[in-house]
Amino acid sequence: MYNFSMPKVFVTRRIPQSGIEKLKSTGFEVEVNSEDRVLSKDELITRLQGQAYDAVLCLLTDTIDGEVFEAAGPQCKIFANYAVGFDNIDLEAAKKRRVIVTNTPGVLTDTVAEHTFALMLAIAHRISEAERFIRAGKYKGWAPMLLLGDNVARKTLGVVGLGRIGARVAYHGKKGFDMRVVYYDIKRNEEFEREYGAEFRENPEDVFKESDFISIHVPLLDSTKHLVNAERLRLMKKTAYLVNTSRGAVIDERAVAEALKAGVIKGAALDVFEHEPAVEPLLLELDNVILTPHIASATEATREEMSRMAAENIIAALSGKEPPNAVK
Ligand code: GLV
Ligand code: GLV
Repeated sequence: MYNFSMPKVFVTRRIPQSGIEKLKSTGFEVEVNSEDRVLSKDELITRLQGQAYDAVLCLLTDTIDGEVFEAAGPQCKIFANYAVGFDNIDLEAAKKRRVIVTNTPGVLTDTVAEHTFALMLAIAHRISEAERFIRAGKYKGWAPMLLLGDNVARKTLGVVGLGRIGARVAYHGKKGFDMRVVYYDIKRNEEFEREYGAEFRENPEDVFKESDFISIHVPLLDSTKHLVNAERLRLMKKTAYLVNTSRGAVIDERAVAEALKAGVIKGAALDVFEHEPAVEPLLLELDNVILTPHIASATEATREEMSRMAAENIIAALSGKEPPNAVK
């Protein structure tokens, strides 16, 4: 029988089933964008207008602002982002319309920290370059000087942004590779320092100066845009590597490409880009950089968890409860 009060949820693109199943088994009507691609803002607006959805499950590739909330209508209580980052959502506009915004923290911490370390080890050991070498048929036998890389063990790891993910990366560095860990964050974490022997630096500059590997784990905000710029790259050791699994615009991508080309730093490993899916063309020409297509949280298990978590936030919000992961 048709139930007039059955809440309707729109999902902006196909995601793993766990969350969809959860919403359906709770009795919600779920509509998933049938095309497996990003909807432009105009398409999203058209898709939402007049549909009276009670909730939207959106992705980091969706631009969610006042116009989108307007199109969704005042009955739409929540936009649940399928991501830990939420720089794609205008929080001011959400607050003005009392729309709840949620994210998916915690469940992807291990996965992103693993990917960060995979990149760090891969760039230091020249894994991608070495594989390209073999596939190009250039391998003519073992050689004492072939593709020499750098050790990671006992080097200095600089973590910029000691949130959940940054702290987990620091943990791997310390426990797995006996690295010295220095970090910068707007908030000092003395408990973490005691537990892992990490050293706080009052200025990001000092982290850039001291580190052999720098890993970026800040959210994208006005204050963190281009946090890694030409000036700070020049502070780094010529032998140092930069790893970014946070958001592309936290680094000035062109400046990083130029620094890599000129030998200002030794290498970089990037999972995120300033104008995704575009990648700074100069990066594509360089051997001392590893590029992955924003997949740091992309394991089957983690993406199922993110799906479930986004659904739970929607279920809580539509039952009049405080969702577990409301973004303030
Ligand atoms: C991925 O980039 C995320 O924010 O979850
Ligand atoms: C989020 O990005 C975190 O580090 O928890």
